[in-house]
Amino acid sequence: MRLGIFTDSHYSSKDVTCNVRYNSRSLCKIKEAFEYFSEQKCDHVICLGDLIDKEDSHEKEIENLKSVSRVFSEYDMRISVVMGNHDAFAFDVDEFFSVLGEKYIPVDLFTENTALIFIDACHFKTGEHYKRGDSDWTDTYYPHTDDLRARLARVQGDAYVFLHQVIDPEIRADHRLYNDAEIRAVLEESKKVRAVFEGHYHEGHDSRLNGIRYTTFPAMCEKDDAYYVTEI
Ligand SMILES: [Fe+2]
Repeated sequence: MRLGIFTDSHYSSKDVTCNVRYNSRSLCKIKEAFEYFSEQKCDHVICLGDLIDKEDSHEKEIENLKSVSRVFSEYDMRISVVMGNHDAFAFDVDEFFSVLGEKYIPVDLFTENTALIFIDACHFKTGEHYKRGDSDWTDTYYPHTDDLRARLARVQGDAYVFLHQVIDPEIRADHRLYNDAEIRAVLEESKKVRAVFEGHYHEGHDSRLNGIRYTTFPAMCEKDDAYYVTEI
């Protein structure tokens, strides 16, 4: 299976935020990424979150998300979008996917020998999900570990895990889930997980621990050509 992956586009009308995020350029970069994924004949495109960024008005946020949706609709590839903390700040989950398109909700995919497993770590450590206007980039947690264990038990062959925030222990703790060690233990126990793909830590990073590869992709808003094709 050939995957096209990008993350942290942070698309908005602002030219630059945090000195290094070129938000308004990201719509063109998303188009460029999709042209490349299409040329490369990707089966499935995955956005690892923070697709958009906040605006001064919610109407503008809706307009921006519709612009992204128009780009997606030009391509005949399966697309899954994992929400990031910035997406969750601007939109509740239901509204996000009703504007972007419900077919882009990330749903676990099980094939004969490979599975894609999606984790939504947009939860506070209380276990509550982020809400519009209420998210925190350092307060991230995945409360459904039993459910994750059960999903991994269904996998035949190799599993690949996707989330916005970070469980790679080599990355700074403020980017990681509170229970990153617990999640890694569940993945390791299954003996099926080959790789974990993450965003959120804009510099990107690669590591390997106990047989699992952790790839954190660099942020599209800070870099040119930050889109990647990977064969699994
Ligand atoms: Fe993020």
